Amino acid sequence: MTAVSLIDYAQGAGETQSKPESYLNIYERYFSHMRDDAVTILELGVATGKSMLMWSDYFSKGTIVGIDLFPPGSEMPTMPRNENRIHMYRGAQNDTEFLSRVSNEIAPNGFDIIIDDAAHIGELAKVSFSHLFLKHLKPGGIYGLEDWGTGYWQGHAYYPDGRRFKEPGDGRTFLHQIANKALKNAPVEWPSLTWMQKLLKPYQYVSRFRSHEYGMPGVIKQLIDEVARSDWSSLPYGTEPKEKRPSYIESILISPGVTLVTKSRSAPMG
Ligand SMILES: C[S@@+](CC[C@H](N)C(=O)[O-])C[C@H]1O[C@@H](n2cnc3c(N)ncnc32)[C@H](O)[C@@H]1O
Repeated sequence: MTAVSLIDYAQGAGETQSKPESYLNIYERYFSHMRDDAVTILELGVATGKSMLMWSDYFSKGTIVGIDLFPPGSEMPTMPRNENRIHMYRGAQNDTEFLSRVSNEIAPNGFDIIIDDAAHIGELAKVSFSHLFLKHLKPGGIYGLEDWGTGYWQGHAYYPDGRRFKEPGDGRTFLHQIANKALKNAPVEWPSLTWMQKLLKPYQYVSRFRSHEYGMPGVIKQLIDEVARSDWSSLPYGTEPKEKRPSYIESILISPGVTLVTKSRSAPMG
């Protein structure tokens, strides 16, 4: 089957039907301009290989690489076609040596697209992302994190992370409370403040918002810090000082089910 758009694969039951239509809708928006290019794609977690067939079908000049644990009971599938453009490996998504070996063998110049559809465990997804995004994704390339909402599921199938919304132990002191009270009706503009108000100003509005910081959502929230990297002139309250530099991330699309991270064109590779 050669489909007109990626969305067609959602309906086309059979060997290429694997991902929900809502994901394919987003992929179509982000990937269609590369459709006729000799793109290189790496997918972490490929199970029976259906999505690999979809990618190879859609990107007719593409090279598709898949890795999976293929645990006992789910043996490595034999691909029915396009074998010279489809490469499958057995290994773990957090084995960075393995990931580099595979990447250097098939895509020494980097991947255009990397999709993580493997364990959906924050700690593992972060290892893969930190390693692959910088070292093996081309500048301008796209990294997809699928099913990140599993981090909100009680008793998530693979790992029990991300179950609670963190109560903010917000680090506010007595001084912060005084500042918030004293400055409640103060002018907003800095020059209009009294010297006392100027002294208290840095302590106003310092509060952490109640938020889920575990698992996959936690990873994505860390990426937001990276997007703002060039703005780190005054550090967020309570964070360790870090080097200020342009962000390695150009943009993030966060949607229900799939998050797409676009690598900045000025970010390094390797
Ligand atoms: C949801 S399935 C992948 C489906 C496939 N991407 C598709 O769209 O057809 C998840 C796969 O990830 C694999 N997996 C789970 N944990 C993994 C890990 N730590 N490293 C590599 N693969 C893993 C599982 O064996 C399983 O086959």
